[in-house]
Amino acid sequence: MTTCRILLLLLLVTLSAPPLSKAEESEARARRIINSLGCKACHSLEGSGSTLATAFDQIGNRLSMEQLNEQLTRHGNRNSQTFMPDYSTVPDADMNDIVQFLATLK
Ligand code: HEC
Repeated sequence: MTTCRILLLLLLVTLSAPPLSKAEESEARARRIINSLGCKACHSLEGSGSTLATAFDQIGNRLSMEQLNEQLTRHGNRNSQTFMPDYSTVPDADMNDIVQFLATLK
């Protein structure tokens, strides 16, 4: 009985949560992709991750969308000595979400 009530309560909470806006959805997607591609093995975001490479926090102040895009799709052009993996096979839609999200970190 108690389990039933808890489930019902959870269902109500889920149903009453306001739908995510488009921007929130793409930010959530970007965060998921960043986690699944393992960017934080080298970079950090909001204190979580590694210090092998620059932190993503405030990266929107340093790099334009164009530069971010270039780093992620043709990074060899920016720095041929980099040990950052090549992500050029990641679908464009995923990269766009990441680039747009990183550009908002100011
Ligand atoms: C194996 C380590 C490693 C991983 C994993 C990695 N990077 Fe990097 N990244 C680097 C290094 C090293 C640099 C600095 C050298 C350079 O310019 O490539 C860098 C640079 C960058 C820059 C430019 C930063 C600046 O301040 O100029 C961005 C943006 C970036 N990485 C994004 C990402 C994203 C997004 C991911 C995941 C999809 C990722 N990186 C995964 C090592 C890594």
